[in-house]
Amino acid sequence: MNFQTRRKTVLAALVCVALGAAPVLADSSVTPSNDRSTWPEGTPRSDAAVDLGRHLFFDPRLVLSEDQSCASCHSPHAGYADGVARDLTAHKKWKRAKRNSPTIYNLTDAPVVHWDGRTPAGQCLTAKDTGVETCLAPLEAQAFKSMRSRKIYEGFLPKVQAEPTYREMFKKAFPPNGEVTHLNMALAIAAFERTLVSNDSAYDRYMAGDRSAMSIEAKRGLAVYEGKGNCTACHSGANLTDWQFHNIGVDSDDEGRGAKLKTAAEKKEFRGAFKTPGLRNVALTAPYMHNGSIGTLEGVVEFYDRGGDRDANLSPLIQPLGLSNREKWDLVAFLNALTHTVDVEVPEIPGLAAR
Ligand code: HEC
Ligand code: HEC
Repeated sequence: MNFQTRRKTVLAALVCVALGAAPVLADSSVTPSNDRSTWPEGTPRSDAAVDLGRHLFFDPRLVLSEDQSCASCHSPHAGYADGVARDLTAHKKWKRAKRNSPTIYNLTDAPVVHWDGRTPAGQCLTAKDTGVETCLAPLEAQAFKSMRSRKIYEGFLPKVQAEPTYREMFKKAFPPNGEVTHLNMALAIAAFERTLVSNDSAYDRYMAGDRSAMSIEAKRGLAVYEGKGNCTACHSGANLTDWQFHNIGVDSDDEGRGAKLKTAAEKKEFRGAFKTPGLRNVALTAPYMHNGSIGTLEGVVEFYDRGGDRDANLSPLIQPLGLSNREKWDLVAFLNALTHTVDVEVPEIPGLAAR
């Protein structure tokens, strides 16, 4: 947690005490910050960079066949996920992706991204166009790798370089030279992603002292979430995740985090473990889990209630819960109170409209 969000916690706590209102609950009372000054060093923070990133994010020339953009799998219409269990990938001959597309809301503070954590902070990557190696924050590194695996040097990069409108946008976003490079494209896309901060849900307003912001069901659901459900053992903090890896017993042969670690002991410890997903806007991002195997939030709650589906290497934090029907209903109502979307205008892509 950075300084900014910490200060907010304190403020929220003071407000609650002053009003004698909503309970102040450990870490989960934190509302995520959308203050750009907290972005990592070297991250372009201007509106021009964000605007450029938004265009690149929606540009279908990401892939050689020019028919898939970042937004195809991280769509504003599906909470920046995509509504299917596993998407079809253009760059892999329209085969199914290995895993479910996660939302990209609220990743600004993520110390690591990807279900198996293969993109941690400080990964150093060399761009082929400039020959320069740069160590990046997870979001920037992910955007860099995501384009590289889709053959950016053969397709996206020269196509963007050829568009006069894009070249103007790069000048504004990366003054004075405005170089159209792989790295700058990644920085701009990540800058756009960093603006997708969900922080004004009914839950946030409730925690800030507005007692009427959440329904009675959602308030009872919050109590289950923090109490009998034990959800905060992992889904804690401003984004309702501990950013750690756990095996919660999803029915799957995917080794997850285990496959990414080196020693036999680590592999064993993390076999079938995945990064705890943040729960902001979770009502919009069905289906759920790393493989999209659970279709609804009701299904997720049933899954936890029975203590998962697989015993192999199961986290000791996962136990049957014995929830009543009302408690299950309330928990789902609480998860629905985590919805707040950011309005983003889908841009007209330079050079595509005219075709
Ligand atoms: C064909 C669908 C598809 C496209 C296109 C796509 N993604 Fe993804 N994205 C995924 C999937 C699937 C994952 C999860 C993979 C994993 O963790 O193993 C993912 C993971 C991510 C993550 C990590 C999220 C987290 O919480 O761990 C980010 C950030 C992201 N994508 C951004 C992008 C950007 C930026 C682009 C465009 C440059 C892009 N994606 C293009 C499907 C896609
Ligand atoms: C031991 C840690 C842990 C506990 C306790 C836990 N979760 Fe999770 N949760 C995870 C992990 C890890 C995943 C992803 C697992 C996977 O895909 O295999 C997950 C996935 C989810 C998802 C799916 C999100 C998505 O975007 O796909 C929801 C919803 C969820 N949990 C809600 C809850 C609720 C509600 C509780 C309490 C009843 C709870 N979790 C308890 C760690 C935990």
